[in-house]
Amino acid sequence: MSDTSIKLAHFSDLHLAGRHDSRGFERLDKLLTAIINSGCNHIVITGDLFNSTDPSDWAAIKEVLQSKRLYSWDKVTVIPGNHDLINLEEEMRIYNSLNPDSNGRKKRFRRKMDEFCDMFSELITGEDETAGFPFIKVLNYGEISISFVVVNTAYPWANIDNPLGARGYVKRGEIEALFAPTVKKALRDSFVIGVFHHAFRIYETDALIDQAFDWTMELKNREELLGAMLHLNASIVLHGHFHRFQTYMIGGMKVINGGSFNYNPRRYSEIAFGRDGRYTQRFVDI
Ligand SMILES: [Fe+2]
Repeated sequence: MSDTSIKLAHFSDLHLAGRHDSRGFERLDKLLTAIINSGCNHIVITGDLFNSTDPSDWAAIKEVLQSKRLYSWDKVTVIPGNHDLINLEEEMRIYNSLNPDSNGRKKRFRRKMDEFCDMFSELITGEDETAGFPFIKVLNYGEISISFVVVNTAYPWANIDNPLGARGYVKRGEIEALFAPTVKKALRDSFVIGVFHHAFRIYETDALIDQAFDWTMELKNREELLGAMLHLNASIVLHGHFHRFQTYMIGGMKVINGGSFNYNPRRYSEIAFGRDGRYTQRFVDI
């Protein structure tokens, strides 16, 4: 690889307890400082920022990024995970009193998603205006061009279909949007990276008793999303959700599971892109 390279840092699943989680924020400060000192050009955080769905908690992350001069479209990409959008306890409580409340749970989810997009709109659109999913980010560094195709995979809680709120699904409209000819055109001559929260891989637990619950974490329409990623010539996919730092191949794409900050706050994934079109990936321990 040539000497000049562009570095991308990726971590996931912070699961901070809230804006007052001083230990968690101290650890986040350390991780971000190490990433900045490594000469990183862009940071991707693939969801589950908190174990709460409270926008005033999200604002605390925004403040940290601002204080480190990272809060801009070209420096950070952040997406929500299921834990950021679904308050499981509240859903159960409402379901038990208002069964089946089908419209309510979808409305609550949409409202939460809108709040998240409003909070981080500058990181999605680059300006303080209406933001939403999916979105594309093309970053040009001289001869090196990197693009993110960012998709939401979290979907509303449902008592039978999504009992833990942890299952993934990409809305038909989002998939269709990725097939619009303008998208492929915008990504031409760029290194394409898919970004979402849920895993492509079907993780299976070893314990028999847990295997019955494997489906509660899965990405329901993974084949459709895979088709869209392949259509857009994605070379890499970044995700979180299943707390394991690892890489694996699917459909010729290198898929990187950013693991869990909550599990190990001193590790992140780094990808270095060279001018020769090649890249290297490694997990860095700070
Ligand atoms: Fe998750």
